[in-house]
Amino acid sequence: MSESPLFPEAASTIATRVDALYFFLLGLAAFFSLLIAGLIIYFAIKYRRRSPREIGQHMATHYALEITWTVIPFIITMILFVWASHVYVAMVSPPAETLNIYVVAKQWMWKFQHLDGQREINELHLPVGRDVKLITTSEDVIHDFFVPAFRVKADVLPGRYITIWFHPTKAGRYRLFCAEYCGTRHSGMTGEVIVMDPPEYQAWLSGGATQQTLSEAGQQLFSDLACNTCHRADLKGRGPVLEGLFGSMVTLQSGEKVTADEAYIRESILNPAAKITSGYQPIMPTFQGQVSEEQLLALVEYVKSLHK
Ligand code: CUA
Repeated sequence: MSESPLFPEAASTIATRVDALYFFLLGLAAFFSLLIAGLIIYFAIKYRRRSPREIGQHMATHYALEITWTVIPFIITMILFVWASHVYVAMVSPPAETLNIYVVAKQWMWKFQHLDGQREINELHLPVGRDVKLITTSEDVIHDFFVPAFRVKADVLPGRYITIWFHPTKAGRYRLFCAEYCGTRHSGMTGEVIVMDPPEYQAWLSGGATQQTLSEAGQQLFSDLACNTCHRADLKGRGPVLEGLFGSMVTLQSGEKVTADEAYIRESILNPAAKITSGYQPIMPTFQGQVSEEQLLALVEYVKSLHK
């Protein structure tokens, strides 16, 4: 199928599963279209009006037939429902251990941030055979991350972190598109995902200037913004302790419990009053407008790296 000019290559584990479902649907549609069209033609000829005086006959309801053509489509649609649900759930549930990469979309480019510090624009280098998780956000309007060869497509929204995961199975270069109209140069918002063999990928990673890792950049920013005067590890700070925070359940002033995920950390930086941790005062100033989406990612990654 990858040879067909009409169909993209299948280069991820989910791609073959999506294709199987898609071809089953196509086959099903083709089968019933041909069956119905064939029967229409056959009946039109067989039961045509042979003389002007001919009139139709009254037909009694044939219950066995009615039940058959209700039950069979019902079973077929239920098979499709269960099958498609399985594929969907696999698509939206990233495995526990993934290679994480942050993506920031903007008019009109894709920015990629690797945890080791590498940054790329409109190009994403990945190793083959790893589970990859993209944590995406937009700094302006809605964009849509679409790599046909991976059968991966998801809206990238401002103010939210949307995760996308896939497992590339073949080294190669694959087109990346923006699949949501986002302004004048939407059609030019394309890029390339370069899937490499692991040794090649390692060489790519170690090439280029040695930079700070993303969490080191976050740590730097954390002290530049003086976050560390209130958020201290020793319980003496005026703000909650951040060590061990990521992934934990936080009890809020209202008694509500929330999970400290990326979105929670982002919100707590931009709109600190939204979710006050129980036992603390709402004294933190907002950092809205002072930190870019990319700096927010560095801060998020730094908080993630803080273990007890
Ligand atoms: Cu970004 Cu269309």
